[in-house]
Amino acid sequence: ARPLKVALLGCGVVGSQVAHLMTTHAHDLAARIGAPVELAGVAVRRPDRVREGVPPELVTTDAAALAAREDIDVAVEVIGGIEPARSLIAAAFEAGASVVTANKALLAEDGPALYAMAEKHGADLYYEAAVAGAIPLLRPLRESLAGDTVNRVLGIVNGTTNFILDRMESSGMGYGEALAEATALGYAEADPTADVEGFDAAAKAAILAGIAFHTRVRLDDVHREGLTEVTAADIASARRMGCTVKLLAICERAADGRSVTARVHPAMIPLTHPLASVREAYNAVFVEADSAGRLMFYGPGAGGAPTASAVLGDLVAACRNKVTGARGPGESAYTQLPVAPMGEV
Ligand code: HSE
Repeated sequence: ARPLKVALLGCGVVGSQVAHLMTTHAHDLAARIGAPVELAGVAVRRPDRVREGVPPELVTTDAAALAAREDIDVAVEVIGGIEPARSLIAAAFEAGASVVTANKALLAEDGPALYAMAEKHGADLYYEAAVAGAIPLLRPLRESLAGDTVNRVLGIVNGTTNFILDRMESSGMGYGEALAEATALGYAEADPTADVEGFDAAAKAAILAGIAFHTRVRLDDVHREGLTEVTAADIASARRMGCTVKLLAICERAADGRSVTARVHPAMIPLTHPLASVREAYNAVFVEADSAGRLMFYGPGAGGAPTASAVLGDLVAACRNKVTGARGPGESAYTQLPVAPMGEV
């Protein structure tokens, strides 16, 4: 079979791991896809930065030209943020490529428009990596639970803030120092405000609620409180009460099924609760459904390699579809339900 060509848009913490895995696992990926996969170009902002394992001749600063190339089969967008990511994804669809992205902010703001573009051009849109890093969560929620009724999705979906809270509690580290460590480890967003103010978790809550409840939820619909008001004294007093503090994302369907709610805020969790034992940058998400009961998804929620694992899974699916002519899931049929800021529950 002819080799499939992949454009990598962005080569930061996640992108460089994607490039590395594509190179080192080329043989296995080809075997799974049924055709070899080639990195055709890597768009970066700063070409002077050394990127181990990325052939220098593939590096370009012209992301727009790379995204618009007609020979590209799949574009992987790991730049993050709204622009230029949105325009680059649009250009890639225009040129007939499928798109794999880890961009939760863009999906929460513009998911339906992205799906419409994919649909128009007969391409796929995949974004498992956008929520909870390496944890397979969106696909089970969308596909495995498609015949069930999900009532609640609740958990820790931001690795950076969990890392900060964990360090503040376990080693008495200050907030700033803990954030610096999370950034150095590659967990935090390019602008960590998105993590600590709860925007990152809120975007993920919007995506989760939309998929879980077969509706559309936008970032603005999500009630959001970040971590910035939580002090070491709060954490210590929670501890005295047998609790710990976690930043939770909570998405609920009203009992009558007529509205949904999504919110992000710090919460006191009893030490006996499974969420209390989620350490470092791990994520844990409970999904409660009528027939399935209570499911727990747990694993590394941030960082280059774990997030790249989810990107690669999507890349295999998108490439495989290019080989077989099959299509990805597309946006599920949905009913627009009102989104109540704090819900009635
Ligand atoms: N900054 C995000 C987090 C990365 O800390 O969870 C994963 O989406």
